[in-house]
Amino acid sequence: MNAFENPTNSSEWSNHYDVTRFEQSGQQSIQMLTRYLGLSRAQELDFVLPSYDPGHRLDMWSKEMNQGSDKGNGLFRDDLLARVLNRSNHLHDPRYAGHQVAVPLPELAWISAATALLNNGMAIDEMGPASSPMEEAVMRSIAQFMGLGEGASGILCHGGTLANLTALLAARQCQAENDEWRDGTSEPYAVLVSEQAHYCVDRAVRVMGWGEQGTIHVPTDDQHRIRPEALKEAFAEAERKGLKVLSVVGSACTTSSGAFDDLNALADFAESKDLWFHVDGAHGAAQVFSKQHSDPLSGLHRADSVAMDFHKMLGVPALCTGLFYRRSEDAYCAFSQRADYLYEKGEQDEWWNLSKRTFECTKRMLSVAVFGIWEQHGPKLWESLVDQLVGNAQTFAANVEKREGWQLFTQPKSNIVCFRSTRWDNSLLRRLMVEHGPHYIVKTEFNGETWLRCTFQNPFTTETVSTSILTRLEALGMEWDSAQNSAQ
Ligand SMILES: Cc1ncc(COP(=O)(O)O)c(C=O)c1O
Repeated sequence: MNAFENPTNSSEWSNHYDVTRFEQSGQQSIQMLTRYLGLSRAQELDFVLPSYDPGHRLDMWSKEMNQGSDKGNGLFRDDLLARVLNRSNHLHDPRYAGHQVAVPLPELAWISAATALLNNGMAIDEMGPASSPMEEAVMRSIAQFMGLGEGASGILCHGGTLANLTALLAARQCQAENDEWRDGTSEPYAVLVSEQAHYCVDRAVRVMGWGEQGTIHVPTDDQHRIRPEALKEAFAEAERKGLKVLSVVGSACTTSSGAFDDLNALADFAESKDLWFHVDGAHGAAQVFSKQHSDPLSGLHRADSVAMDFHKMLGVPALCTGLFYRRSEDAYCAFSQRADYLYEKGEQDEWWNLSKRTFECTKRMLSVAVFGIWEQHGPKLWESLVDQLVGNAQTFAANVEKREGWQLFTQPKSNIVCFRSTRWDNSLLRRLMVEHGPHYIVKTEFNGETWLRCTFQNPFTTETVSTSILTRLEALGMEWDSAQNSAQ
C-alpha cells in the first residue's frame, strides 16, 4: 500500500493518536490520580515506601511485561497507571520525610501533561515560541529578586548536577587565560569546595578532565561549614602543588546535614584571589524567598553564578533547576559551539536560542510551571512553602532534643534534620523502618557513624506526624530487642 494513501485509516498508530480516546483516557487518569492524591494525603495507604526488595520488584515487572496482555486495547494496559501508583514512593503522604525531592504542587501535573503534549523542544526560539521568552522573563526577574543585579539572568535545565557542571564550564572559560573550549584543558585547574559538598561538584570537575586533584576538599567545622582559615591554607597548598584554582564553590546548603557555608567569607576570599564564586544552592537557595529563613544565604548576591533546584523546596516536579548568572553574558561562555543547522550565521548571544547556554539541546518546557507560579504569586507562595518546611524541621528537631534516648546533630537551618538514637544501632533502625514503615526516612554518615536523616519536604507533616517517627522507631527497636531476647 502507498504510505501516502489515506494515512488516518485503519492503521494502529492513528488509533493511538485518536482525539476522543485521548479525552477518555485523560478523564480516567484524572479520576485515578485524584483518588490517589486523596488517599496519600489522608495517610490511607499502608506505607509511604512499598518495601519489597529490588530483585522481587524486577521479577514482578519482568513477568508482567512478558506475559502479554488482554487488558484493554489502548496504548498501554488499562491497569498500568494503577500498578505504578501502588508501587511507587508516596511523597504526598505526610509521613514522607526522605530525600530532597519536592512534593509537587498537584496542579503542576496538568502543566506537565500540557507541555508533554506540546513537546516544544526549546533548543531554539522557533521550538519554544511561548516557553523561551517565558523562561527569559522569569529567570531575569528571579535573578534580580536574588539580588544578583540588573544585568543578571539565567537558564533552566534538568537538575542541579547539570547546573553545577554548566556553571563550572562558564567559570573555566571566563577565568582561564587560554581558550579552553577550543583548545582543551591546558593547565592543571582546580576548584575549592567543602569536604561536605554534593558529589556532583567533584563529578563535574572530572568530566572537565581535571581529575581527582581538580577538586580540593576544604575541611569544615563541627557544623559542616567551610572553615575560612582552612580555605586560605587549601589555596596556598594548591599553589605550592602548581594547581591553578579557578573557582570557589559554596554549599547552600550541604546535602547530608543542611549546613550553609559562610557565603560572605567565601565571596571575600574569591574577590581577593580573583576567583569565580559559584554557589551550589540546589537545595537551600530556595530560602531566598523567605524573610524568616534567608539569613544563612547572606552573601548570595555576590556570587558569579547560583544553582537552585525548583524541584526541591519549591514544589515543582523534577527536574527543574535554575542556573543564575550575575552577568548574563557569562552564560554564553559555557558552550561556544557552532551548529549551522540550528543557528543563523551572525547570531551570537541571543537569549532566544536557549541551547547556546544549556548543556541540553532538546529540553522540556520547564519555564511554564515556574513562570505560572511567579506570575500569579510572586515570591509569596514559595515563601510560605519554605517557611512551612523549615518550620516543620525545627519543630521536629526541638522534639528530638527533648526526648530521652535521642541526639540532634545540629539545629536545622533548612528542612534537613540529622539525629540518632543513643540506645539502638541507627542503621538497624533505618532498615526496620524501610521494611515495616509506615514512615519514610533516610540516613547518612559522619566520621563513619550513622545518623538518621529526615528532609521535611511535605508541608502536611504536622508535629503529630513527625513525633510519630520517633515513637515508631522506638517501637521497632523494642520489638527487635524482644525478638532477639526470645531467640536466645
Ligand atoms: C547541594 C546539592 N547539590 C546538587 C544536588 C544535585 O541536584 P540534582 O539532583 O537536581 O541533580 C543536590 C541533590 O540533592 C544537592 O543537595
